[in-house]
Amino acid sequence: MNVIHSVAELRAALRGQDRIAFVPTMGNLHAGHLALMQTARAHGDPVVASIFVNPLQFGANEDFDRYPRTLHDDIATLRAHNVVDTLFAPTVAEMYPEPQGFRVQPPGDLGDILEGEFRPGFFSGVATVVLKLFSCVQPRVAVFGKKDYQQWRVVHAMCRQFSLPTEIVAGETTREPDGLAMSSRNRYLDAAERAEAPRLYRELCALRDRIRAGGGDFPALEARAANALAAAGWQPEYVAIRRQTDLDRPGDEQAPLVALAAARLGTTRLIDNVEI
Ligand code: PAF
Repeated sequence: MNVIHSVAELRAALRGQDRIAFVPTMGNLHAGHLALMQTARAHGDPVVASIFVNPLQFGANEDFDRYPRTLHDDIATLRAHNVVDTLFAPTVAEMYPEPQGFRVQPPGDLGDILEGEFRPGFFSGVATVVLKLFSCVQPRVAVFGKKDYQQWRVVHAMCRQFSLPTEIVAGETTREPDGLAMSSRNRYLDAAERAEAPRLYRELCALRDRIRAGGGDFPALEARAANALAAAGWQPEYVAIRRQTDLDRPGDEQAPLVALAAARLGTTRLIDNVEI
């Protein structure tokens, strides 16, 4: 595996490749990331991954400074699993040599709801860095995890509206044996919180099962799940039943649905979702 830190070297290394499959990450790699890279392998060649903790997508009071940076271990993990051909790991100065005045602004009805409501500017930061990374890597396919469901939808819509030549492929969420979705932020949890954390997924599954059993009062079902989390000591930010395609509130039509949630457990903010 080739490890590259500069845009110029990356472009030189990838010149002439037209079947690149790309997996952007912020590092601190776990089995979920490796699964996305296996998916990339099935869709193209070479497989390129990036590790870059993007300051643009962190709010002033968020965890940019404490976000786990484990590049040395990540490189060893990628080498051991042999899933990536080229790793792009730029510094902040390499990605943002000047203040990033031009930004991608996702439409409000996709970017300012759910995660965007609680993390203002988050999706603009994500979309901007993804566009820059795509410009550097020029992938034919890029893989995004469904764990970050709204992020996947935002990037998908961005590619469509900007006519980007990159096809977005979604990777399923990888879970711990007890159901907790794998996430780099799980490492913030202490032992008691880690034992409690799978409740988020359990509540979403219970919500899905109630809908499947005919429950149609969505606001009541959302409130029930949020109340169950609060009763167990969580601070829920949202529990929302939405249409899969555009994350809009479902009407009377029979659209495929997804239940999404974000909640704080102690100082750690966790998100998860379940398709219905
Ligand atoms: O999901 C992530 O790790 C990040 O949001 C991404 C897509 C790498 C952009 O910084």
